[in-house]
Parts: sequence; structure tokens; C-alpha cells
Amino acid sequence: MSELTNPATIVQEPETPGEQATRRAFLAAAGAAGLLYTAALAYPIYRYLASPEEMALSATAVTEVTLKDAQKLPLGSVLMFKFGTAPAMLIHHADGRWIALTAVCTHLGCTVQYEPQADRIHCACHGGVYNAYTGANVSGSPPKPLKLFKTAVNDAGVEVARA
Ligand code: FES
Repeated sequence: MSELTNPATIVQEPETPGEQATRRAFLAAAGAAGLLYTAALAYPIYRYLASPEEMALSATAVTEVTLKDAQKLPLGSVLMFKFGTAPAMLIHHADGRWIALTAVCTHLGCTVQYEPQADRIHCACHGGVYNAYTGANVSGSPPKPLKLFKTAVNDAGVEVARA
């Protein structure tokens, strides 16, 4: 057997510093490309799994709004407002309680309405019903409850904040 074909005789020469730097740069670029690829795959999955309500709320950086003069809202009525870019509602229940919730249906994202005569929140798109005090999905298509906000009533109005 000749010396050239015998694997035991092949001697690998040490890498030069230039070759090592090139290898590191290649590995760093490959790692960055892998991260980008993973993010590109994960984002559509997140979009698919996130509810329309979560998407609407995550699109805004707003954490609190003050609804001027909303403390004058009559009992048994509702005030629709925007929490950032997302529709929301402030309900002044007949028993005096103040409840603020997102108004984006967790099924497919339609804007829901408060029905004072039935004291419930209804989605006209597919008949979803929510509890007007807790936001719980009561019947129909909605898979999740509406998100509740914190409320604080003062002389200037009603402050609504993320819970
Ligand atoms: S979008 Fe509200 S029930 Fe379908």
C-alpha cells in the first residue's frame, strides 16, 4: 500500500488564523440565518394560535385611557371607546358596577355589543354570547372570554387600564 492511499498517513495541517476567522464568520452567519428561519416559521404559527382579541390588544402600546365625563354614564348603559386601536366598552351596570372589557370577539374578531335588556354581551356575527360582568364566553362560537380592564371612577371621568 502506498503512503498516499493509507488513511493513517494523511496529516492534516493546522488551520491558519485566517481560516479560523472564516470558519467563525461562516458559523455566525449560519446561526443568524437559522434564527431568522425559525422566526419566519414561528410567527405565522403564533398568528394562527393567537385570538383576534389578543392580536388587537397586542397591536397597541396603550396601557391606560381616561374617559372624560364617563362617570356621568347612566345606569344600564354602555360607552364604546378605543383602547389604543382596539374597540372596547365601558358598561355602567344597573347595580352601579363599572365593567370595562375589550369589544373584540374572540371567535373571529367582530366587534361585540352590550345588550342592556338581556344584560349580556352579544356578537352578531355568529351569535356568540358573553357574561357582561366577567367577560366569560357563555355560549356560541367564542373560544375564550373577553379581557377585563381595571376601572377607577373619579370626578374627571373613568380611568381604564390593562388588568
Ligand atoms: S366573530 Fe363573534 S361569534 Fe363569530
